[in-house]
Amino acid sequence: MSYLRATRVASRVRFLSTKQSTSSIQEIDKYNDLPPNSRVFSMIQPTGRIHLGNYLGAVKSWRTLSNTNPDSEFIFGIADLHAFTTLKPATELKENRYQAIASLLASGLDVSKCVLYFQSAVPEHLELNWYLTCMTSMGQLNRMTQWKLKAQQSQTSSITDEKVMESTKAGLFCYPALQNADILLYRSTHVPVGDDQSQHLELCRNIAKLFNNTYGVDYFPLPKTLLTPAKKILSLKNPEKKMSKSDPVQASCVYVTDSPEQIQSKIKKATTDSIQGAWNYDPVSRPGISNLINIISGLTNESIDNTVANLHHLKDHKSLKDYVADLIVNEFDDKRQLYDELLQNKDYLEQVCKQGRDKAREMALVNIGEIKTIIGMD
Ligand code: TYM
Repeated sequence: MSYLRATRVASRVRFLSTKQSTSSIQEIDKYNDLPPNSRVFSMIQPTGRIHLGNYLGAVKSWRTLSNTNPDSEFIFGIADLHAFTTLKPATELKENRYQAIASLLASGLDVSKCVLYFQSAVPEHLELNWYLTCMTSMGQLNRMTQWKLKAQQSQTSSITDEKVMESTKAGLFCYPALQNADILLYRSTHVPVGDDQSQHLELCRNIAKLFNNTYGVDYFPLPKTLLTPAKKILSLKNPEKKMSKSDPVQASCVYVTDSPEQIQSKIKKATTDSIQGAWNYDPVSRPGISNLINIISGLTNESIDNTVANLHHLKDHKSLKDYVADLIVNEFDDKRQLYDELLQNKDYLEQVCKQGRDKAREMALVNIGEIKTIIGMD
């Protein structure tokens, strides 16, 4: 395949708007300032119901972005192939997949404004994964911090360490290459995620650049990371760590589907401090309080400064916690009820996913065909 031919292929294909500002990481402050014709892509793992961190770090912004930018395209997926890096009984994985799709719909995603589908239903993810795995070095993968967290290794550990190598599955280690394939398969321009995905997205841009340079094309836009202001919600019990479904401490994590009593009890037990007087946002010396302020800011769409200024009427830690619990209960009340109804209606969930799969696959097939032409695999 000559470079000339590759360039012709690239110019034949529809060129997505890459009218991007110079920074590759953007905080979403105004949801409707996406350039027209953007293609926004993101995914979530089906590890069951979604939690407050997923909601404020990602899913709420998916909803708002897709509702406020009719001239852009939105593709959101359930990353079930990624979830396979942790083996589960088949019935549990299947139920988790339903729960994830029901959580997203209950969180307000409107399937007339976005494509919603299961990653495993579009096999082109796996095909592109192979091509991109072949372009990604072991060193790049080794520097990623997520696999170390998930494999319960220290952040300074390395795959070259014999013990680490023996205990880490290849799928978990190579997972970022699949994530790159997810994003690039749709030639995405923007990826709204929480802070913990920033490193993976940096790698994705590097691989996209490498592909474009290797084949002398301008095929993949360099996808921008879109971070919400509440980009990192921390564990309620240990605000040194992010809020996570895998945290064995139940009270560390609030789920969209928790009952008002569960939410109140978890917030009541949240770790804070014993400092009295005015509230201030200081993640280093007041991590627990700052986490609650960040949660309020995410739920009310107010800046951190405004949020702190608005808290002056709350005189003690108990009233602050009651206030946070009320906000979360209000935010999730209708979502919990809808979630329960949706889970009873699996035929509907399947219909939504089939419709999403057909739309996603249509785009994926066009792009993988072009990619194969560019690399000489057609
Ligand atoms: P996952 O399933 O762990 O998380 C889904 C989304 O939720 C965000 N998030 C958080 N945001 C703020 N605070 C938290 N405590 C918190 N916990 C999770 C994550 O940043 C993410 O945006 N590898 C990805 C899934 C994935 C993906 C992709 C994402 C697969 N392919 C392509 C974007 C593009 C993951 O495990 O997310």
